Amino acid sequence: MKMVTQGKNEKQKYPEIRLSVNVDHVASLREARKEKEPDPVHAAVLAKIGGADGITVHLRKDRRHIKERDVKMIKEAVDLPLTVEMGLFEDILDFVLEVKPAKVTLVPERQGEVTTEGGMDLKPEGTKNEVEKFAKALQEKGIKVGAFIDADEKSVQIANEIGLDFVEINTTQYAKNPQNFKIVKKIEEVAKYASEKGLEVMAGHALSVANVSKIAQIIYIEELSIGFSIVARAVFVGFERAVREMKDEMMRARFLAISSLDNFKIS
Ligand code: PXP
Repeated sequence: MKMVTQGKNEKQKYPEIRLSVNVDHVASLREARKEKEPDPVHAAVLAKIGGADGITVHLRKDRRHIKERDVKMIKEAVDLPLTVEMGLFEDILDFVLEVKPAKVTLVPERQGEVTTEGGMDLKPEGTKNEVEKFAKALQEKGIKVGAFIDADEKSVQIANEIGLDFVEINTTQYAKNPQNFKIVKKIEEVAKYASEKGLEVMAGHALSVANVSKIAQIIYIEELSIGFSIVARAVFVGFERAVREMKDEMMRARFLAISSLDNFKIS
């Protein structure tokens, strides 16, 4: 982790930004023909070569892209932290407890949705109790647990009460309106709030090379989860290069943000 010194003796840690590459849509392409290729395991290997810091997969209830076999093989074959996204389903919980990925991101999952539609409702009248139960079971196995949340402080507060390890802030609204300063500001405020509460802060959904910069400049965000735009670009330029382009853009943006701080020095 790089350190940034601010002021005279005050040392503030700003982590480098990590990229976890979501390979779901490599499996979507495979499932379009129910063939063996393209294999998301191969994509995960190439993602590592391209500079990925982690791999993410979403094991959906309908198994429409990623299957149990993919999760197990990626965990075996690729020496990077694996994040499994999952809805609150007992059978998937049992499987994930066996595989023991590094992290689990709990997400809302509506049957028939094209992609994740929003953050978890962590309020007591929403999914708080269930999230707490799932989190406990996973954390007991040494798995870090977080929730996908919309950019609001209340969700962070509840995530913290439950004892989650991280939150992943939904960037969809931003991606639809990348010029809207208010949305970026809100994501930054919520990321800062979560970070001050001691939660690790991730972000993602609908990010691309074209819009990632403003999110990567938010210094409280430690990791981005990006899939679709990387897979889409990989069709034309190859997987390794698509990952590299994304990582380079994220690093450029983060360096820009850190270097604009007063008296910065990287040691
Ligand atoms: N974060 C979460 C919670 C998601 O469900 C997804 C999509 O699987 C992503 C991030 C990645 O989104 P995208 O594929 O649009 O980059």
